[in-house]
Parts: sequence; structure tokens; C-alpha cells
Amino acid sequence: MEIREFAERILLSPDLTAKLQAPIEQITDERPGSAQRVAFPDRADSLRIYRATGGTKMPKATALADPSQRGIAHHIMANHELQALEVMAWTLLAFPDAPSSFRAELIRIMIDEQRHTRMHIRRLESHGWSFGDLPVNGHVWHRARSAESLLDYLACLPLTFEGGNLDHSLQFAQLFHQAGDTKSRDVMRTIHEDEIEHVAFGLKWFRQLKPSDLSDWDAYIQHIHWPLSAYAAKGKIFQRTARAKAGMSPDFIDRIEQARPESKHRRRAESESTTSVPTPPSAEIQRKESLP
Ligand SMILES: [Fe+2]
Ligand SMILES: [Fe+2]
Repeated sequence: MEIREFAERILLSPDLTAKLQAPIEQITDERPGSAQRVAFPDRADSLRIYRATGGTKMPKATALADPSQRGIAHHIMANHELQALEVMAWTLLAFPDAPSSFRAELIRIMIDEQRHTRMHIRRLESHGWSFGDLPVNGHVWHRARSAESLLDYLACLPLTFEGGNLDHSLQFAQLFHQAGDTKSRDVMRTIHEDEIEHVAFGLKWFRQLKPSDLSDWDAYIQHIHWPLSAYAAKGKIFQRTARAKAGMSPDFIDRIEQARPESKHRRRAESESTTSVPTPPSAEIQRKESLP
């Protein structure tokens, strides 16, 4: 199967089973085709993502003793995993000239994201829900689909969303453990271990593609675009060891840990003194939304 076919099956098919099917045949990349920027992934009506905001709210930690609420948490996280998969497919179609080893390595990560989505779906089903029972949003998709370069993609998805998931995954592992749900805990621990590899992949390629005279941090700040910022690259309980395992330098880890939410006004003042003003966001202060 060609990489392009695999990406198209994920993005342009509304059928969830087809989206989550790993390639059976050997993957080839002989016909990457011309660049295509897909506006929205096709999905079944019950899972369609129109907007970046809205959808179902994550239950509070204290509510997770209730199995139904844990199912809601898995529903939200299944949608995050699916969006990560779709953003990766979008990247393959948008950047057909990316290095062939980058494209091949991304396929391996996409197979992980398919597995993560299926794991969350199994857990939400075992808590009495079906995937599509609850409204979903397209937060990750909307933030990632404006990428103009591979560096934009790498700053956004692996270094920010997947970087943040190093914290979210272990936080939920702990919460599910406290609720006595060892299966859900183990799902989160597995995802955490995979996520270290995904962040490492992102960091490796970010370093290869960025200008050599820019530090990791300076390049990251150049390629992370409002309303996303370094503040979104972390969760409530900061995991230094996981970030070090992914290859982040102590300085980079410190800067992520110290990141604060950025206000629209400060960002606008900065950008007016340099280049064009970015599209105004709907919220004054950037929202923080977890995962893939
Ligand atoms: Fe994942
Ligand atoms: Fe991931």
C-alpha cells in the first residue's frame, strides 16, 4: 500500500473501522503525489468535528469513581487520539516532499495512534458508552491544520500536544488507579510509554530541520503559533523524567515548565512590531485542552 493511500483512507473515509485499520501489506512511497491540504477529516455524523471548541467537558477528578464518568473521559481521549492520527495523515498529504525516512517513521507512529484510539474505544464501551454517543470537538485538528512547514507541524503536534500528553497520560493513570480501574490505568501507562517515543521522534526531526544557529527553544517559539503556545505543552503534574527520556535538554524542559498562558493583547503587541497580525482567537486567554 502507498503512504498516500493510507493517509487518504484515514482522512477521506467516514468509516471508523477503515480509519483504524493498520496497513496489512508492505507500505511503499513511490507516488507521494502533489501537496493537498484537506480542510476537515471525513467522519460519521456522530463524530464530525466542526469547531475547535465545545464538545464534552472532561469530568472532574472526583467524579471518576463513577464508571460512567470514566467512560466519558475515555470518549474524550479517543477523540484526541483519532485527531492525532488524522493530523498525521494530513501532514503526509500536505508535505509530499518531506524526507522519505520522516514519512516512513510517521507511519509507525500512526499505527500506534490507531491502537491508542482502539484502546480508548474498548474502555469507553466497557463503561457503557459507544464512540459517537457524546459530542466531540476538533481542537487538535484546528490547531494543527494551519501548519505551513514540517517545523510548524513538529512544534505543534509532537512537541506541544504529545509533549503535554506525557503529563496527562500519567495523571489519568493515577486517577484511574485511585478509582480501582486497573485496565484503564494500564491503557494510560501504555500510551505514556509510546508517547515518549513520539515526542523523541518529533524532537529528532525538529533538530534536523531547524536552522543550525537557532537553539531548540528559539526555533520552537518561532514555530508555535497563537493561540497555541508552550503553555499547552504540559499538564497538571509535570513529568521531567519522561521529557528527558524523549531527549529534551534540561534548559528546554525548564522553559516548558515555566511557560505561562499568553494573552491575546500581549501577543498582538509583539506581532505588530514585527510582521502581520495573526488571526484573532475567540478567547482572551488561550484555552488549555489536553492530549492526544
Ligand atoms: Fe496516542
Ligand atoms: Fe502520540
